[in-house]
Amino acid sequence: MNVNEQVKLRAMTSADIAEVADLIYVSTNYWYEAQGKGAIFRGGPEATEWVCKIYEDLDPGRCVVAENTRNGRLMGSCFYHPRPTHVSLGIMNVHPNYFGYGVAGRLLKFITDFSEAEGKPTRLVSSAHNLDSFSLYTRAGFIPRAAYQDMFLKVPETGLDLSVPGLDRVRPAVAADVDAMTELEAEVAGIRRPDDYRYFIENKDRIWHVSVHETSAGEIDGFLVSVAHPGSNMLGPGIMRSEEQTLPLILSELNQHKGRCPVFLVPVDNEPLVQTLYRWGARNCEIHFCQVRGDFRPFQGISMPTFAPETG
Ligand SMILES: CC(C)(COP(=O)(O)OP(=O)(O)OC[C@H]1O[C@@H](n2cnc3c(N)ncnc32)[C@H](O)[C@@H]1OP(=O)(O)O)[C@@H](O)C(=O)NCCC(=O)NCCS
Repeated sequence: MNVNEQVKLRAMTSADIAEVADLIYVSTNYWYEAQGKGAIFRGGPEATEWVCKIYEDLDPGRCVVAENTRNGRLMGSCFYHPRPTHVSLGIMNVHPNYFGYGVAGRLLKFITDFSEAEGKPTRLVSSAHNLDSFSLYTRAGFIPRAAYQDMFLKVPETGLDLSVPGLDRVRPAVAADVDAMTELEAEVAGIRRPDDYRYFIENKDRIWHVSVHETSAGEIDGFLVSVAHPGSNMLGPGIMRSEEQTLPLILSELNQHKGRCPVFLVPVDNEPLVQTLYRWGARNCEIHFCQVRGDFRPFQGISMPTFAPETG
């Protein structure tokens, strides 16, 4: 098959959403099942339609699809998110019928060309277990800059009855916190994305929750978002100066998910954080890398990334 002759890259339209949701569902589940792991999405492609919806809310028209010109079907799709400081790359998927034919490489080049034209680095989070995507990105010039362990913790119906210093400094975020959250992320991670935080706090779909941690002087020194939806139950994104804010924020957000089992990504090199989470009962399910193509400044604190919206 000569894919280069058959592929046409174009922007996703609203008429494509159901097919893109199918593509994400079948491609991701196929990959996990081929590794002997269970399907990661369950309950049908409605679960992945959610991803298309939040990405369209946040960045309308920012999904590039690879259409097969022979039959009009979609061979692959990838979302991307232009932000003031960078472009982040969202969910990348190729239909299993076309694995290994260079479709992802074409989609990726479209996005890195876009970032270069904007003069910005491209950032993403990719699985350390997935050599296909690891190779795709590192061949294209991405560099793994930080490693995270994906942990999960079953929260009892009655909540986690744990105590940790700083819990009394955590409160729900309000719209007026967005500027301080943005400045904190700029200091800790060198990136800015205020509109994402406005969207989470506004919470029109009633699936997000955001907590902030304050110093005794009332300054925000950490925040953590979480989401509960059939397509994703995760904590993140989060930004904190150290584990001192991270642990009370994680405990507060876990207790927003009573009876559920959220996943969260924590930096592998923060030993006090990781050991405390083990003591709380957290277990590992995967490893991810923050990968950046272009300028990168090492984190000056803790960043907890997530997959939707992708943050890097
Ligand atoms: C990951 C995925 C998107 C790759 O799509 P694809 O269209 O098969 O990828 P491509 O054919 O463009 O190949 C990517 C590159 O990786 C290279 N590659 C693959 N395996 C490699 C390996 N083990 N070592 C070195 N390079 C490797 C290929 O040679 C190719 O590079 P080239 O074009 O310079 O030769 C696809 O497997 C997929 O959709 N998987 C399921 C969902 C998923 O994991 N998404 C990624 C989430 S971050």
